[in-house]
Amino acid sequence: MLTLDISKATSFLAEGTIEKYAPLAIEANKALAEGTCLGNDFLGWVNLPSSLDNDFIKQINDCAKVLRENCDTIVVAGIGGSYLGAKAVIEALSNSFQWLTNKGENPDILFAGNNIGEDYLAELTQYLKTKRFGVINISKSGTTTETALAFRLLRKQCEEQRGKEEARKVIVAITDAKKGAARAAADKEGYTSFIIPDNVGGRFSVLTPVGLLPIACAGFDIEQLVAGARDMEAATATEVPFEKNLSAIYAATRNALYNEGGKKIEILANYQPKLHFTSEWWKQLYGESEGKDGKGIFPASVDLTTDLHSMGQWIQDGERTIFETVLSVENTNHSLLFPNDEENLDGLNFLAGKRVDEVNKMAELGTQLAHVDGGVPNIRITIEKIDEYNIGQLIYFFEKGCGISGIILGVNPFNQPGVEAYKKNMFALLGKPGYEAETAAIQQRIK
Ligand code: PA5
Repeated sequence: MLTLDISKATSFLAEGTIEKYAPLAIEANKALAEGTCLGNDFLGWVNLPSSLDNDFIKQINDCAKVLRENCDTIVVAGIGGSYLGAKAVIEALSNSFQWLTNKGENPDILFAGNNIGEDYLAELTQYLKTKRFGVINISKSGTTTETALAFRLLRKQCEEQRGKEEARKVIVAITDAKKGAARAAADKEGYTSFIIPDNVGGRFSVLTPVGLLPIACAGFDIEQLVAGARDMEAATATEVPFEKNLSAIYAATRNALYNEGGKKIEILANYQPKLHFTSEWWKQLYGESEGKDGKGIFPASVDLTTDLHSMGQWIQDGERTIFETVLSVENTNHSLLFPNDEENLDGLNFLAGKRVDEVNKMAELGTQLAHVDGGVPNIRITIEKIDEYNIGQLIYFFEKGCGISGIILGVNPFNQPGVEAYKKNMFALLGKPGYEAETAAIQQRIK
């Protein structure tokens, strides 16, 4: 089971501070369970893992089977919550050199619709010319420009390369039950489609078809992923007392550090390159949930030890407004020994015969102690290994922690009003019909 160590964070707080936040965390968890918090129309994720039955998992796996049998490449079009969960899990579980080692047993999973880079899309289009590719179009609203733009290109290319009839078999929509362009296209063309529940927001949607279908297409065991999340759902339920409720403790600690310790930035640090996108997913989850009403911890991330040689100086010695949350992995999936070298030119023979992971673990421990000495409170989250079950636990641990934390902070953790501002300006600048007044106003500003 995932473990949490806050001892090196509480040492930065006055005695009794966490105890002060405990009742707030308990109340917040209760509000999530009873639906009495702000944003209570978006609480479908709270009991989601325990509500997913075998039939649902089978439907996803059946659809994945069709895509896997008919495609060598699957492009997932989506952005934000309709992208990051699948990307994070697939990256974490895949071979680091999947690109180069894939002998065709699994389709390559590519992502698009998460940017508007012309070079990216042009190069993708070029790459796909020789591929038997399929598309999973994911958009809850069905109106997101980045995703819609990519889907237009991908659908056209897929139809041109495979013919309309065959394309219909390998294009899948994951969207709202009724609204939006993605739903309209799916209904008109007869694509297989899955519904994103109304009450699950994008950044909490990885355990819906949004995350599960791409993950199943990549060849991973979604049943185990859900099982891990389900166990964490039980372990963080309201009946579980604060001292054992890991999400509640995490939420209480970060709020205590923010309010009482003046720590405005949380840096999520991993020591496994495969977890880079787990941090990206986490940043969206916490950033979009908490950064509002002039409040919120800024979620940042580093990949270590890589970034000790870039951001390490700042973390050790910069402004003391940060705390660090280390995402630690107890056991690696491979074993590799540090080799002996007769000449010992680099002087590292004292490490010969040791596991590479032992060196990594000592780097992790040494860094933790150094950062604590440098005035950086430290929270440590440890998962047993990187596999479907443990990643499932981690996902739900962070989701529950986020819901509780946002409620303690006093914001609605489930909306994202700030995301609209750039869209409004972009549409005004591009002259979208209906935006005439905004276009005139913005033209004045940029004269
Ligand atoms: O978490 C969220 O709600 C957002 O990040 C959305 O997922 C993102 O904006 C994409 O939206 P949509 O799925 O409607 O295209």
